[in-house]
Amino acid sequence: MNPPQILVLAAGKGTRMKSKRPKVLHEVLFRPMLHHVLDTARAIDARGVTVVIGHGAEEVRTACAGFSGVEFALQEKQLGTGHAVMAAREPIAKLGGTLLILSGDTILTRPESLRAMLAAHRRAGALCTVGTAVVPRPQGYGRILRSADGGVADIREETDCSEAERRIDEVNGGIYCFEAAALLEALETLSTDNKQGEYYLTDTVRALAKKGKTGRFLFEDPWEVAGINDHGALSEVESVLRRRVNEGLMRAGVSLQDPASTYIDARCRLEPDVRVEAGVTLIDSSLAAGSRVESGSRVIGSTVGPGTVIKQGSYLEKAEIGAGASVGPYAHLRPGTKAGDKVRIGNFVETKNASFAEGAKASHLSYIGDAEVGREVNIGCGFITCNYDGGPVKQRTVIEEEAFIGSDSQTVAPVRIGARAYVATGTTVTEDVPADALAISRGRQVTKDGYGKKLRARSGVKKAPGQTA
Ligand code: UD1
Ligand code: CA
Repeated sequence: MNPPQILVLAAGKGTRMKSKRPKVLHEVLFRPMLHHVLDTARAIDARGVTVVIGHGAEEVRTACAGFSGVEFALQEKQLGTGHAVMAAREPIAKLGGTLLILSGDTILTRPESLRAMLAAHRRAGALCTVGTAVVPRPQGYGRILRSADGGVADIREETDCSEAERRIDEVNGGIYCFEAAALLEALETLSTDNKQGEYYLTDTVRALAKKGKTGRFLFEDPWEVAGINDHGALSEVESVLRRRVNEGLMRAGVSLQDPASTYIDARCRLEPDVRVEAGVTLIDSSLAAGSRVESGSRVIGSTVGPGTVIKQGSYLEKAEIGAGASVGPYAHLRPGTKAGDKVRIGNFVETKNASFAEGAKASHLSYIGDAEVGREVNIGCGFITCNYDGGPVKQRTVIEEEAFIGSDSQTVAPVRIGARAYVATGTTVTEDVPADALAISRGRQVTKDGYGKKLRARSGVKKAPGQTA
């Protein structure tokens, strides 16, 4: 099949979102709407993809940076969907052939449906095929006026509908196949003679119906054509997408305790036998077989190895965790954290730009940043790497294999603690510690007998315990 060109309309302001942000950049399952549409476009073998930008053009263009091969057309003023297509006349003419038009606010369309629509369009030899759906609440959509042969004679915007037309429940999904040359001609017939004073793309269908065949392609799942015009629709579409992703994962062998409260971005890769508890959010991450994420955790851009447990309430961002490890509860792993197999990072431990070799442990209440922690190192409670002196660079801390770091101690970087060395409880390490040595820097304890009594007398504390007056 001769590949089509694709045009994505994404220049609109999105007035109904009541937002400063361009509508197509509002997020659905942690990604801008437009990314979902560009993913769909990418799944179609196309001869070119053009995105019409306008409102917040630079912001939208920047947001598309990760999609190579996408071209842009600028619609300076947003005078309607027909006007948006006019702004792309040049690429449309240059690429020619069949043109598939998608809307930047319609993200649930499946690539396989679009392929079926393209095939139907070609089989019928139509000048235009309109993607439609029958919906219980047609409000806000253009209504389909059928032609005698079962095609589309016209599309009536809600604001321009008569009472009878308003009752039509087949709506325009805003997805079209056009023969590029015929569309370019039909664009010349558009006017702003309607209630909204805009150039409607939908009016080209009426012009083309007079010249040749204009078909309908019915999307059986109406969600595939659901446009997002306001925050209500956005949340509905997000639930549908969440369900789709979660159902796909469960079919593939992933166990979700409570799919309704589990938000997994479609880019995540979860192997069979992963267990995800309630209230978990996973974004652009990979979880290997047998791993488990407990309730209330959020994992972003991270990889979790086989059999590893992320305990309740942990937050991981750009972290790599090996096999059989344990993180949390309530751990905060910041970007650049790399933990090897069997590492334990316990409650209220914050890490950043830090690596932990196999079997290293930091079980309680620590900050470990810009550090390299060796194999089987044991870090006690309340240890802090002091890596920042207010200057431009963060200094590094190296703790070599099997070293033992006593509780409530600090290392002032840059510093190195040798293999199997001990750092005594309460020590502030300011100099390198050789292998097998002990570093201790706390003051020696002084005990004064009877001194407690004397202090009490001096401060006038005489009351017996429990006495109130
Ligand atoms: C449009 C259709 C309506 C259809 C609905 C499906 C028209 C006139 N109406 O209405 O029949 O049922 O989609 O969702 O086409 N855009 C631009 N430039 C503009 C205006 C819009 O690029 O000047 C883009 C928007 O960013 C959006 C898309 O076109 O992605 C649709 O625009 P929108 O204003 O949402 O149209 P609807 O009122 O939903
Ligand atoms: Ca819309």
